[in-house]
Amino acid sequence: VPQAIASSGQSSLTRAGFSVTAASVRASEANKTLDTVARLLHQIASTRHERSDPVVALGGGVVGDISGFVAATYRRGVPIVQCPTTLLAMVDASVGGKTGVNLALPGGLVAKNLAGAFWQPAQVLADTTALASLPERVFRSGLAECLKHGLLSHEVDQNLFSWTSQNLVRFRLGESASLPELIERNVRVKAWFVERDERENPAQSGPGRVLLNLGHTFAHAIETLPGLSPDGRPENSPLQHGEAVAFGLVAAAATAHALGRLSAEDRDSVRVAVERLGMESRLVGLPPDDLIVEAMSHDKKVSGGRLRLVLPASLGRCEVVEDPPVSVVQVGLAAIRA
Ligand SMILES: NC(=O)c1ccc[n+]([C@@H]2O[C@H](COP(=O)([O-])OP(=O)(O)OC[C@H]3O[C@@H](n4cnc5c(N)ncnc54)[C@H](O)[C@@H]3O)[C@@H](O)[C@H]2O)c1
Repeated sequence: VPQAIASSGQSSLTRAGFSVTAASVRASEANKTLDTVARLLHQIASTRHERSDPVVALGGGVVGDISGFVAATYRRGVPIVQCPTTLLAMVDASVGGKTGVNLALPGGLVAKNLAGAFWQPAQVLADTTALASLPERVFRSGLAECLKHGLLSHEVDQNLFSWTSQNLVRFRLGESASLPELIERNVRVKAWFVERDERENPAQSGPGRVLLNLGHTFAHAIETLPGLSPDGRPENSPLQHGEAVAFGLVAAAATAHALGRLSAEDRDSVRVAVERLGMESRLVGLPPDDLIVEAMSHDKKVSGGRLRLVLPASLGRCEVVEDPPVSVVQVGLAAIRA
């Protein structure tokens, strides 16, 4: 986070009478490792940190996931207070207790969030003034996750998708008056799923956390591909995770329509919303379908070797579709191919 945010977080704790030991982590997926966790654990162990003393995570989702895992393992668990400073972390990563780091696999692959723990925060404090310094594309990534929540929110918040879509341009222009409402409504949606299925139980009946993966099987397959960017310009490569999710939502909506599960009107509303994020909804330079389908079948949502997609059935309701035919997945990919 910018120095001003770090200093203000630290001084407010000091003013409240806490003795603070600061540790910093450069927020990147490459640093989201067991080595970073080990460094932080050793650093805490060198202080007089007691079992009831909290770890405070001040930063985006990378910092939150690492710090949460450190808190889950130090002395077998000390409290974690999440202070998210990105929109994505405020509406998504800080809520629900998933913590963890990436693991390097043989062959140079990196598996995201493969080592971790469920460790619920003792408290989550989101101060929207922190968002003012966010780079535009990082902010947009958070808005993409808000669109995803809107496509799932039927039982919690019936018009979240249309409200978000209608207000996207205002949010992007920095109008902050509705940000607390945006965050509160999104947290309610995430929390609703977490309450029903805290550990993402594979045998979950009824709506579970798996639905929060809407758009992510497509997104994970494209986000690490070299040369892709949200506007076709190579200098803006690689895609941010949230941008990949936005393309994933367009692909999922087209796939759902091809299966006869989503109306053409709702499919088109998803594309319009993604374009309101200020990005193209079609990617220049997408590799051939078979490579992407292959990458999709490596995703962790694959079960028993069969592809499993979360697809929208309306602007608010999603469902899990097991083993969809490759031809309809290709319709989804065609929808995001320039
Ligand atoms: N635990 C969960 O349930 C969950 C859910 C979704 C995502 N995640 C994880 O979250 C991570 C992505 O989080 P993210 O999008 O917040 O990215 P991030 O943590 O990498 O932050 C993005 C960038 O913004 C900077 N930054 C953070 N706050 C800032 C501020 N206020 N002003 C200016 N710059 C700021 C960071 O230094 C970083 O460069 C991924 O690792 C993902 O796996 C976890």
